Order: sequence, then C-alpha cells, then structure tokens
Amino acid sequence: MPADSPTLTIRRSGPLRGTCRVPGDKSISHRALLFGALADGPVEARGLGRGGDNLSTAAALRALGVDIEIAGDEARVRGVGFAGLTAAAGPLDCGNSGTTIRLMMGLLAGRPFQTELFGDASLTRRPMRRVAEPLRRMGATVDGRSDPARPGDVFPPVRVQGGALAGIAYDLPVASAQLKSALVLAGLQGKGVTTLREPGRSRDHTERMLRAMGAPIAVDAGTGAVVVDPSGWNGKLRAIPIVIPGDLSSATFLFVAAATVAGSDVVVENVGLNPTRAGALDALSAMGADITVEPQSDALGEPVGRVRVRASRLRGTTIAGELALRSIDEIPALAVAAALAEGETVFADLAELRVKESDRIVAVARELRRAGVAVDERPDGFVVTGLGGRAAAGGIVQPEHDHRIAMAGAVLGLSAGDETVVPVADIATSFPTFAETLAALGAAV
Ligand code: S3P
Repeated sequence: MPADSPTLTIRRSGPLRGTCRVPGDKSISHRALLFGALADGPVEARGLGRGGDNLSTAAALRALGVDIEIAGDEARVRGVGFAGLTAAAGPLDCGNSGTTIRLMMGLLAGRPFQTELFGDASLTRRPMRRVAEPLRRMGATVDGRSDPARPGDVFPPVRVQGGALAGIAYDLPVASAQLKSALVLAGLQGKGVTTLREPGRSRDHTERMLRAMGAPIAVDAGTGAVVVDPSGWNGKLRAIPIVIPGDLSSATFLFVAAATVAGSDVVVENVGLNPTRAGALDALSAMGADITVEPQSDALGEPVGRVRVRASRLRGTTIAGELALRSIDEIPALAVAAALAEGETVFADLAELRVKESDRIVAVARELRRAGVAVDERPDGFVVTGLGGRAAAGGIVQPEHDHRIAMAGAVLGLSAGDETVVPVADIATSFPTFAETLAALGAAV
C-alpha cells in the first residue's frame, strides 16, 4: 500500500446500535442511468448510488452525448432514445465497473459506430468473451485484448463496431445478470426474437425496470427464459420516474457487523429485497442470526423493507447452489460471519468469484488467514472453520482494488483483538459512506 494513501483504522468495538440507511442500490442505479438515457424524454431517478461504479456509467453515457445532472442522490437523465446516442470522441473509461463495460457492450453493439471501452487494472483482467461471443453471433464486430495465460478469452480494452443485429436463441454459459442485460439491450435493437436461457436465475433488475418502461420483454414462467420480441414495438422506452432502494449488498456488511459484535441491535431502512439478490438474509438466518424483515414499499416492482439484526451466536452452514447465486456479491461479508461463527461453513458452486473485482476466493482466504482463521480453498469455493468466540487477529487488509474485500476486512476488524488497517480508496466504488455509517452506529472506526 503506498505510504500516503488514506486508511481506516478499526478497533474492537462494543455494541453497535441505531437506525441507518445505505446508499442506493448499485445494480439498479446503473440501470436507471442507462435505461433513462434510452427513454423517450427526461427521467428523474431518486436514491441514486454515487459510488465510483455508478459514476463510471454516468460518465460513459455523457461521452455518448447524454445530458445527465446529478445533485445529491437525484439524477436527471435527458433520455435520447437508442438512436440519439452519438459516437464518443475517445475511449470510454469504465473504471472498476464490470456492469458498466458489459451493459455498454450490449447497447453499443446495435449503434452504427465504433466505441472502445477500457477500465482500471482490476477490470482489465476480467473476462469479456462471454459478452463478445453472443454479440458477434447477433452481427456486431467485437474484439479485445488477448492474454496468453488465458487463451480464447477477450479482455479490456474492447472495441465494439455496432450495426444491424439479428435476434438469437442463446444458452448463457454462466448465470450472469451483466451478460443477460447486455444481450437484452442488443436484442431490443435487433430484428427478430431473442431468447436467453440461464443455467441459474441471476438478478432480474433489468427485466423489472425495462418492463415498467414498456419494453417488449417477458419471462417464460415455465423455463425462466427471458424473451425479447421487438416486432410490433415502436422502439420507445417510456420516460418514467425511478425510485432506487438502498443497496442490500452494502447493507449486508452492516448486518454481519450487527450479528457478530456482541450486544448489537441495528436497523437498516429502505433496503432493496429483490429475491434474486437476497440470499444473504437466508444464509445469515441459517447461521442463527437474529433477523427481522418488515416490508416497506415496492418501487418499480422491486420489494423494499426495513431489516433489523441483533447479535447472536452464529453457527456454520452450507452456502451452495441457488443460495450461492443469490448471495454472490455478499460472499466476502458472509465469510466474515463464518469466520466468527462456531463450526464449519462450506462455500461451494462459486467459481464465478474467481472473476469478480479480484479473485475473491484467493482474497477471502488471504484475509481470513491473516486474521487467524483456518480456510480450505477449493476450485469453486472454500471452507471456513470459525473462531467460535475467540478473537480474530488484526493487521493490514490488502483489498487489491476490491471494495468488498476492503469492507469485509473492516467488519472482521470490529471483532479483532488488535488494530486492523484498511485502505479506503476502494470502498468508494460502492459504499462511500461506509466508515461514517459504522461510526454512527458506535463502531471504533
Ligand atoms: C451485477 C451482476 C453480477 C454482480 C455484480 C453486479 C449487475 O455480476 O456480481 O456485482 O449489476 O448486473 P455477474 O453478471 O457477472 O454475475
């Protein structure tokens, strides 16, 4: 870590108590900006997440000629429709954001110009063939950097030359909302039906928001396939107001902190509870966490609620299959719960973790071991033997450009015998107010 980069210092903390909110959902905020830009008029979005990833999407859209004003957590996006996008003057910087680059690739595949997209050191290592290949089949020209160590795949920078597209019937090789959403955006611009089948059900924010905007998109009740049929559609997305709930992925760090710091009682309000995303609540409940959920409202078909978590003794569990998919982004936080629980927690069916902002299997194992926790790494996951009441060790967290590894290290630090130091830069990717929120609940941050 460079000597001058800002850090957070975390000490063992007494009970966390209070009521708080978290910034707007990162996944939904990306879509509010992007689909707002494609609407047939101005779109107001409230509750926008303003982490680095969402700002990358806003900047990329501005470079394509879309006027976006952001003030506080409100965004005003002057929708221009698909045809209103113009070629960018230079390459689009997607920062750390996989959602930005992959959804943009799908959108730009149907635009009659060439765009180059790149990102930071972490994004530059993330696989893009999964998006490039089906887009090529639909008629776009997509190329990117190759890496002799991972032959056959495509990595940023990528170049997309868009044009006339044809719909496809496609079996996605991985359950991925980024891939599915990219192909939906391409399918909306194509001729004919696009049918997308996933090996598991990934988060469905795209389907919910686009349907509310009048896009010709349906989900087959039997197979779960997403069907896009633009024939007979006027090509317009209705400009509707969008209300974005708090980010469950950010809230989960607070849930785990509350569940593991003795005596805690924390309420997080206005949390998005989309069932395709909310596996962490089920996983924590299976570990014996004391959680109550009170539904609050429904925004654009996205369920929202108030979640109360009180400290309790946690025990090991198994997080695999559909539960693993529904808590994919929460695994670093859940690994902290496992580290402090009694007994073994098995994390399986999580090979996708290897291609997130970092190789999260390696990163979680490294950080838990640093804290004195036994971890057995597997190709598709890991097994944690919990400390069961013994204190974790402190030390210096190495997030390696991964916001969720940084926050997991900080939450584990609340239960460590000695000081934990976390570089803060990465945390702003998704949860810029993380430290102040924890401090307001009484954490020694
Ligand atoms: C996201 C989809 C998921 C998730 C990521 C956000 C999205 O990625 O891990 O943080 O907003 O669509 P994959 O599509 O790669 O599974």
